[in-house]
Amino acid sequence: MSAIPIKNKDGIAKMREACAIAATVLEHLKPLVRPGITTQDLEEAGRDMIARLGARSACFGYQHSGRRYPAHTCISVNDEVVHGIPSFKRILREGDIVSLDIVVWHNGYVGDNAFTVPVGPISPANEKLLRVSLEALSLGIKQAQVGNRIGDISHAIQQHVESHGFSVVRDMVGHGVGASMHEPPEIANFGRKGTGDKIKAGMTLAIEPMVNLGHYKTKTLSDGWTVVSADGSPSAHFEHTVLTTESGPEILTIPRRISAQVSS
Ligand code: MF3
Ligand code: CO
Repeated sequence: MSAIPIKNKDGIAKMREACAIAATVLEHLKPLVRPGITTQDLEEAGRDMIARLGARSACFGYQHSGRRYPAHTCISVNDEVVHGIPSFKRILREGDIVSLDIVVWHNGYVGDNAFTVPVGPISPANEKLLRVSLEALSLGIKQAQVGNRIGDISHAIQQHVESHGFSVVRDMVGHGVGASMHEPPEIANFGRKGTGDKIKAGMTLAIEPMVNLGHYKTKTLSDGWTVVSADGSPSAHFEHTVLTTESGPEILTIPRRISAQVSS
């Protein structure tokens, strides 16, 4: 197990910037999500916004198992858990749920965040799925306290999700993030209290529950990227990059006012 990087003042300042950009892009996409739009439309809006804010997509060209991710955003609809590839063929319909995942490089640092949004009115079951998943993220973040352990985050997320009859995806995990997209530690969304690495001040952690309405099992589609729930049930994903401090966790992926940002 390699050590969890601790960011110094300069690294933290740069993380703040990268994370604010990632969050601003994500926020910018939210109002565009409506029936009739394609996931490729959202990709292009995301790609352009990342460029306007002077950053680079950390997803585009990202290599995994000998493949390069072909888009600037990850957009996962309904049973797609994560890493959905945007497509002009994928037209959003009322009742869909859409997970948007934005990861950017800026000045040598990475900001990572995601959320799932409804397309128009959605079923009560999906409403509950989104609510519980977002609550699980908040509860996980609350555990990112100096002196706690990583397993405290994992446990809080799992406990909340399962108490509502949903399941946490086990094939993918949250992670440290900083000078690269994935740093130690791995942050599973299931686990036991009091286990794993001790949390110290200056860690930057991407906490990201992926929650299935049905069973937690997943599979990857033949495109090599898109992860779907094996049982076809809907899936939600909420993610923040969080800085640990002596006075508690601080969410870094908070959007800036877009108008101010774009005109500067
Ligand atoms: N937030 C995702 C992750 O942490 C982003 C992956 S980018 C992709 O794994 F290129 F792999 F799609
Ligand atoms: Co992530």
